[in-house]
Amino acid sequence: MPSPAIRTDGLTRDFASIRAVDGLTLEVAEGTVFGFLGPNGSGKTTTIRLLLGLLAPTSGDIEVLGHDIRTGAPAIRAASGALMEHSGLYERLSAWENLEFFARVWRIPKGEREARIKELLESIGLWDRRGELVGTWSRGMKQKLAVLRTLLHRPRLVFLDEPTAGLDPIAAAALREDLLRLVAEEGLTVFLTTHNLAEAERLCSQVGVVRRGRLIAHGHPDEIRVAAAGNRLEIAGRGFTPSLLDGLRSRQDVAGAVVVNGRLCVELATGGTTPPVVAFVVGAGADIEEVRRAADSLEDAFLNIVGEAERDAG
Ligand SMILES: Nc1ncnc2c1ncn2[C@@H]1O[C@H](COP(=O)(O)OP(=O)(O)OP(=O)(O)O)[C@@H](O)[C@H]1O
Ligand SMILES: [Mg+2]
Repeated sequence: MPSPAIRTDGLTRDFASIRAVDGLTLEVAEGTVFGFLGPNGSGKTTTIRLLLGLLAPTSGDIEVLGHDIRTGAPAIRAASGALMEHSGLYERLSAWENLEFFARVWRIPKGEREARIKELLESIGLWDRRGELVGTWSRGMKQKLAVLRTLLHRPRLVFLDEPTAGLDPIAAAALREDLLRLVAEEGLTVFLTTHNLAEAERLCSQVGVVRRGRLIAHGHPDEIRVAAAGNRLEIAGRGFTPSLLDGLRSRQDVAGAVVVNGRLCVELATGGTTPPVVAFVVGAGADIEEVRRAADSLEDAFLNIVGEAERDAG
């Protein structure tokens, strides 16, 4: 197993009476895109600032790219790129001049600088527009340029804080496709925050759901969905008679049964599984065409998980 790109253990950060990050323990594998999902004020940006060593933890440990944050923050920042809330681009400079400026800041030698800028602008189709002032560009184009800016010095790890915020759906989708290509071409590890669940599903192989600074779910987007999905079977077919419904409702492993638009929907009790229920339905004389374990969208799953955490917190 390669060591993870990011590892935190019990990471906590207080601001006066607010606990912005609360006992966060997580790992992000090298070469993956990790999505950090949470509502406003849940501690996403604070976590990024902690991981970059821009804020000190109140308690807990952080290791990024093999460096302990207490001693290695400069080395971590040198090997990372970050797109935070403000893009930092200069509106009165052209795209080329912006990248040239930031490449100088990174002290990239002249010959290498020009090749790198060309390579990056070409990869997202903006090479022909390099001479235009950034102030005249659309938000989507500016945001693409802001992403390129984070990649100039060939970082291994990139933090993207809500990269598609404020973009229309078409511009956001275009940026996501560019991101996926850049991630593959550059072999990057990405730590991305978002409240857009479709975005997490498109981009991320692992997601963490955070609420009030606490990690409340963690896994592949599909696993999050399954964990939060109601324990429901949807059965298409015929012969779902009232007596079949009564029979189902009297079973220990069934919490409820109802026919909706000709489909039999069975809510399993805790611990209930599919095969005995299907066998019972067949045994009662129904014809089954299809059985589906109902999967909510990640959006629904997210709301379920966040809502449960809310109720648990009282
Ligand atoms: N410098 C600060 N001083 C005081 N409180 C802060 C500071 N930075 C963040 N906080 C508080 O910490 C909590 C988490 O904020 P943070 O910005 O990390 O959330 P977020 O998940 O990034 O939210 P958003 O989705 O709105 O960007 C909030 O309650 C916020 O008010
Ligand atoms: Mg934020």
